[in-house]
Amino acid sequence: MEFSIKSGSPEKQRTACIVVGVHETRKLSQAAELLDKAADGYLSDLLRRGDMEGKAGSTLLLHKVPGIEAERVLLVGLGKETGFGENEYRAAIATAVRALNHAGGTEGTLCLAGLTVGKRDITWRLRQAVMVAAESLYRFDRMKSKKDEARRPLRKLIFSVAPSGELVLAKQALQEGQAIATGTGFMKDLANLPGNICTPTYLADQARKLSKEHGLKVDILGRADMEKLGMHALLAVAKGSHQPPKFIVVRYSGSKKTDKPIVLVGKGVTFDSGGISLKPGAEMDEMKYDMSGAASVLATIKAAALMKLPLNVIAVVPTVENMPGGGATRPGDIVTSMSGQTIEILNTDAEGRLILCDALTYVERFEPDCVIDVATLTGACVIALGHVVSGLLANDEGLARELLDASQASWDRAWQMPLLEDYQEQLKSNFADMGNIGGRAAGTITAAAFLSRFTKKYEWAHLDIAGTAWKSGKDKGSTGRPVPLLTHFLLARAAAKAG
Ligand code: BES
Ligand code: MN
Ligand code: ZN
Repeated sequence: MEFSIKSGSPEKQRTACIVVGVHETRKLSQAAELLDKAADGYLSDLLRRGDMEGKAGSTLLLHKVPGIEAERVLLVGLGKETGFGENEYRAAIATAVRALNHAGGTEGTLCLAGLTVGKRDITWRLRQAVMVAAESLYRFDRMKSKKDEARRPLRKLIFSVAPSGELVLAKQALQEGQAIATGTGFMKDLANLPGNICTPTYLADQARKLSKEHGLKVDILGRADMEKLGMHALLAVAKGSHQPPKFIVVRYSGSKKTDKPIVLVGKGVTFDSGGISLKPGAEMDEMKYDMSGAASVLATIKAAALMKLPLNVIAVVPTVENMPGGGATRPGDIVTSMSGQTIEILNTDAEGRLILCDALTYVERFEPDCVIDVATLTGACVIALGHVVSGLLANDEGLARELLDASQASWDRAWQMPLLEDYQEQLKSNFADMGNIGGRAAGTITAAAFLSRFTKKYEWAHLDIAGTAWKSGKDKGSTGRPVPLLTHFLLARAAAKAG
């Protein structure tokens, strides 16, 4: 998809289809008013006759509207004007883009970025418009022998903005939105792949390819390297699988060598069967998404490179397959992590924290500015927060605040949970320094409490994306979250640096 920006009056746009909004009940948006004037009341007549009420989600395609340059007009219902907020704006863009895609033209011009969305500025409205448009057109048909191509798919989307100082900001926001959308699409493609294709080796190959494309540095550690480093918590998870584990490090240097890097660590379990603590069969296929954290950090570094952010960013991906097998780790086994702390593996299905803890120790060598890990870590997070917000826990309130701000700015929302010392006692083991599970109570927090024992040397935050990384049911698929959140965090860091 090609995106661009034009400023100018809607009635003068030469385009296959011009899209304007209509509020409930029958109230034309500003852009629609301009079209209506040029068309001598054609639109308001239609509305008066009741052809369209402006209900959210509704559309009306008009041909040969007099007095204007566009070949077609698409009216998009915006719902009630009061209470038109972020969700409604995003839904309107999605509706418009889907309708355009069906309308048959290969190109269209959207006049929706001029709408009032609470206090959101043109930067927000444009970034979101691009992100939502890309999202609405995303398909994953790589594994289908016959692709279901639209008859004449939409190829070009033009955003019309007011001819004022907004144009410069809009162009910048368009580029950022595009980079974020490309990153999000990259994450989705990786995460949607099945476990038999997207193995740890495949992820490592993709990281190499990504690095080549964007001039990034890449290091891939194999089993022998990890043994030398003493990553026995990570290696314990890989033991039941025929797939060799990998440890991926990708570096983007957009700033001085002396600038401390932001380190992103992503859980890369390419399939989580639970291991010997086998999961029940229902929906187990969805455990191919257990590498969503890995995909998100690779996607974020890609977006950072596309935006040429003046930051140093490192993406670290411990990746394994969690399977039962003759060589698999048993419940009760005790391993020594890279940090030297010993862990009694009471449940082999609590494997995410085992691979993450060694990665969190490994990244100390980068003397990070901060570390953010991203993981589909606990089913408990889905129970606590559902599919709306990601769980956020941190050992530093400033970093937590920055991530919450980024979650609001990106509309890829997160919610903080308390990481209090009091939860640590649930991890007590009679035989090792700690167990890898903390009982039924507060499962998301005890998982983070476990990780916090490996993050004492730097500022750290943890995103539990178990409920937000993919959708189940008939719309099953990766959501691309939290790429928008992470990229907005980096954008804010870059802006703060520019001063
Ligand atoms: N990958 C799962 C978490 C998960 C489950 C994410 C369902 C999304 C949907 C993780 O490895 C896991 O199995 N966690 C266990 C931990 C428990 C054994 C302490 C869980 O949540 O049941
Ligand atoms: Mn598991
Ligand atoms: Zn898992």
